[in-house]
Amino acid sequence: MTDSPAPLQERRGFLAKLLAIVGGGAALLAPTALGAVSFFNPLRQKGRAGGFFKLATLDVLPDDGTPLKIAVVAERVDAWNRYPNESIGAVYLRRAGKKDVKVEALQVVCPHAGCSIMFEPGEKSGKFFCPCHNASFDLAGVRTDRTSPSPRDMDALEAEIRNGDEVWVKFQTFATGTSRKTAQS
Ligand code: FES
Repeated sequence: MTDSPAPLQERRGFLAKLLAIVGGGAALLAPTALGAVSFFNPLRQKGRAGGFFKLATLDVLPDDGTPLKIAVVAERVDAWNRYPNESIGAVYLRRAGKKDVKVEALQVVCPHAGCSIMFEPGEKSGKFFCPCHNASFDLAGVRTDRTSPSPRDMDALEAEIRNGDEVWVKFQTFATGTSRKTAQS
């Protein structure tokens, strides 16, 4: 027995509609699935960089303006866990000014390629130095060499003295390898 032409056409029409519905559904589902992957991906980590951190009190900063390297410790959160007290970076803090005491804060990450800048004490005041490609900076973080491999001076961070002696710093990281200071966090 063979199919009559009318039912065959109906079945083809039904099949075409079914494919269109399934295809449309898949198109709607795709962004939702991507969103779910992004939301539940344990590697999607939220740092607390970009906010102010209380990093020290004035009495721990040397009176003579010698910089002190301070680790920035914060809670790190990912999709599954909270990690309290993890190091998310470091800054150099330096006391400046005698009467009106100020605090200067510099990011330790070298703007050239991201190595850690070191402080070298000297006979007078010392200097900052990046061991990776020999960039050097004065105490204010300014490049001391016109041919410096670093495309910009060290990255200054906002620092405030609160409640008389607490040193708070807005901790940020910046893009490396460019003369423009572009915040990343
Ligand atoms: S990374 Fe610092 S000089 Fe190259």
